[in-house]
Amino acid sequence: MEMTPSLAGQPSFYAVTQLFLYREGRRSNALMTAVAKGMSDNDLRAFSDYIGKLPPPPATSMEGLVAQRMSRGAQLVQEHRCASCHGADFSGGKQVARLAQQREDYLLQTLIEFQSGKRLGYTTAMNETLVGISAEGLQDIAYFLSHAPRAKP
Ligand code: HEC
Repeated sequence: MEMTPSLAGQPSFYAVTQLFLYREGRRSNALMTAVAKGMSDNDLRAFSDYIGKLPPPPATSMEGLVAQRMSRGAQLVQEHRCASCHGADFSGGKQVARLAQQREDYLLQTLIEFQSGKRLGYTTAMNETLVGISAEGLQDIAYFLSHAPRAKP
């Protein structure tokens, strides 16, 4: 759905961390806070284990993409060493999110929120990484990652 992240194949440790942050009111989204509020620790773990076992979305076709935006996005991602934490194929792992094939609208919104400090992660890694990237740069990064070649099955 619009502005709603794809969850299948997110590393279970990343998923449990996010559910925890929502439950404790440290990541704010009215809908998700309402959902997570009543969850026990066991619920958080059970949902996260399940999410982690689902296959990530398959790679979409590269046809019709704007080559210039893909290459600008790829270059920024390389300059800012996003793959050093998110993995060479952006499939994430442990407490780090899968980015490959994530929805572009959600990626852009969450990058803006990290950059402005509205979204605080479990650590400050993301808030620091995005310092100095222009608004247009964030758009190209979201474009690139949402079409990134492939998330590991
Ligand atoms: C030092 C390690 C590190 C680096 C470098 C890094 N990230 Fe992250 N990223 C993380 C962690 C950890 C999280 C989970 C944050 C949290 O606790 O909410 C994350 C989360 C994200 C999310 C949120 C995903 C979601 O599903 O909500 C996006 C988008 C993202 N990173 C993009 C990037 C981009 C783009 C770059 C490069 C410009 C980058 N990251 C570089 C560690 C890193």
